Amino acid sequence: MKQKISIPIKKSDVPEKAGGSAKYIADIEFEGMLYAKTLRSDRPRARINSIKIPELPEGYYIVDKNDIPGKNRVKMIIDDQPFFAEDVVNYIGEPILLVVGPDKEKVFEIVYKIKVYYEDIEPIFTIEEAEKEKKNPIYGDDNCFAEYEFKKGEPEKAFATLSYIVEDEYSTDYQEHIYLEPQGVVGIYENGKVTVYGAMQCPYYVKNALLQAFGWDENRIRVVQTTTGGAFGGKEEYPSLIAGHAAFAAVKTGKPVQLVFDRNEDIEVTTKRHPSSIKFKTALDENNRIIAMDVDIKIDAGANAGLSDVVLQRSMFSATGVYNIPNIRVRGKALATNKVPSGAFRGFGAPQVFFAIEMHMYHIADKVGMEPIDFKTKHILMRGDTTSTGGLLRSEVKLPEIIDTIDKMSQYREKYEKFKKKRDGLKGIGFSLFFHGCGFTGSGEKDLIKAKVKLKKKKNDKVEILVSNVDMGQGAQTALRKIVSYSLDKPIEHIIYENPDTDRVPDSGPTVASRTVMIVGGLLEKAARKLKERWNEAPELEIVERYKQPEYIRWDQKKFKGDAYPEYSWGANVVEVEIDPVTYEIKVLGIWGVYDVGVAIDEKMLRGQIEGGIIQGLGFATIEVMNIKDGKIQQDTITDYIIPTSKDFPKIEIKLIDNPYEYGPFGAKCAGELPFVGAAPALASAVQYALNVPIRKIPVTPELLLSYVNLINKPQNSKELRECLTTEHVPPLRDPEVSGTEIAELKETS
Ligand code: MOS
Repeated sequence: MKQKISIPIKKSDVPEKAGGSAKYIADIEFEGMLYAKTLRSDRPRARINSIKIPELPEGYYIVDKNDIPGKNRVKMIIDDQPFFAEDVVNYIGEPILLVVGPDKEKVFEIVYKIKVYYEDIEPIFTIEEAEKEKKNPIYGDDNCFAEYEFKKGEPEKAFATLSYIVEDEYSTDYQEHIYLEPQGVVGIYENGKVTVYGAMQCPYYVKNALLQAFGWDENRIRVVQTTTGGAFGGKEEYPSLIAGHAAFAAVKTGKPVQLVFDRNEDIEVTTKRHPSSIKFKTALDENNRIIAMDVDIKIDAGANAGLSDVVLQRSMFSATGVYNIPNIRVRGKALATNKVPSGAFRGFGAPQVFFAIEMHMYHIADKVGMEPIDFKTKHILMRGDTTSTGGLLRSEVKLPEIIDTIDKMSQYREKYEKFKKKRDGLKGIGFSLFFHGCGFTGSGEKDLIKAKVKLKKKKNDKVEILVSNVDMGQGAQTALRKIVSYSLDKPIEHIIYENPDTDRVPDSGPTVASRTVMIVGGLLEKAARKLKERWNEAPELEIVERYKQPEYIRWDQKKFKGDAYPEYSWGANVVEVEIDPVTYEIKVLGIWGVYDVGVAIDEKMLRGQIEGGIIQGLGFATIEVMNIKDGKIQQDTITDYIIPTSKDFPKIEIKLIDNPYEYGPFGAKCAGELPFVGAAPALASAVQYALNVPIRKIPVTPELLLSYVNLINKPQNSKELRECLTTEHVPPLRDPEVSGTEIAELKETS
């Protein structure tokens, strides 16, 4: 049954953004504004011996570590990241100092004239090197920012008694956000108070970072979000660093200071998705049921810890996918390397492991001679089952309906059979199942965030939403106004929402982890219902609502036991591909998605989120290639780092399955990250099916596919092949009526 609130309305930021009148940070002029440019390390790892600065013209300044009144550390989980490098640099692009002045070109000129004298230190570039290097670690004594392990059941016993064991290994690479608007901030210092304006997801993260950096009183720091052109996690932690830069410069010069990146700089120095390496060991019984799974996850954190600790946790809690596995051991490490720090990115560690677990399930299905869809369905979690951390699934899990629906929409089974028997060209179809844990991991919401929202009824009967959550294009503004409008029974035009300003809004937490609708929207719904009751009490009213954790949640943060998330959203994807037999380019012929996000707050906006998420996920799986060579990013422009557009893929067919969540506003759960998660494994499965080679690595570029096929085609390469493809795969999938000669040969030789 469709809920009334799901009926689409006009997205409120569209006219400004589509019409070009929206003002982004680079569009805002402040009187007497100076421009800042960052001098950065061009070494991956080195000691700074000295810095030679040319004589500065009048009105030009250098801002560096000596201009920080408080602590030279960006406030994060572990405070290891300096605003400006001290005696060592740990990645190419690490900020050393700023040049600030009235003429942009002159500022750039001065930056190029500064000479830094380095003494190089042996760098650490890979996860393997990071694990091995103990003599001269980047961080701590083992290069490890975070290391965890958790268990369910008795995995050791299961592995000791069962003989059918499948081992598998996967890897994923960098992904860059490519939000439309590069990073930017303006710092202002007036009457003893610092204000920072800028594109960001988390105004209070920025404020707290500035408080620590300045060591000042709370009322001397103010942060204002400006219209933000996309973020995807990329403006979660990074703005805290540059807000500091602009603020230090403003205090030193007494003038507004603008620090806005161009695209090239943005790609080179801002956070990216963590590369990962994921190993599985899975034990099955004689009925081909999985009894135990051992998962070992390593993520490449880059030079600073950032949010890697929690990214790793989300990876680990997603490690066994949507499957009910009684005995589990999951280990995880976030390792330090001399590369740009990895950070938050849509899905926050989950997409890497969902690619891996979904491919692993497919590979096991091949080995036991089952169709992947049947093998997966046989293992799905249902209501009453426990998650990998032992949390109880209390709500209905609608996976059977989701699987059924997507099969009918995409004709998955039919095509799977058809492609198996006879194909014209190299066609394949792939299928993925996935969830997303809604909101913060573990007890973060209760212990760290303690969200607070405010609703203000004004004399003119309009109601203002006061929260610290931002609209970054995802539609938060429209969604939150809609929730308040429906709860209050007032027209949407009467509900006001302005870009958050920490001097005006309470800390309702960061705009991350799909918590904005479920948590903040939930609090606003409560506040609005209270306001409705009290509406006639006075011409002006203020209602404050604070987060209270639902009673049912049990979580042990030390043992990783219990409800890692308050609730889960679920989904399935099918992707159909055709592979060019000469160039190995992948053409996507069809994309389907079925989702349970509780209830859609606005169906059209949700569909927009889903389409964007899938396409971004398919980019991650195919054409978005980023290599770092000797610490230097090779694809540092959008000419080299290609992202997909809506023209690269056919129309996506989407169905939503309503499943109202008791504690979410109007039954809503989480939606923003979920559609990203399932795209890569569905595509990789389709490619695997088409080519009959195991896919254990994304992005699946034509070069990668060609190298696999070449390896398989040359019998003299069989040892190399075994190493490259790590397990003896090649399933008994289809009869030999395969057109495309390489593939026919492939079957023979293997
Ligand atoms: Mo995010 S990746 O929780 O913005």
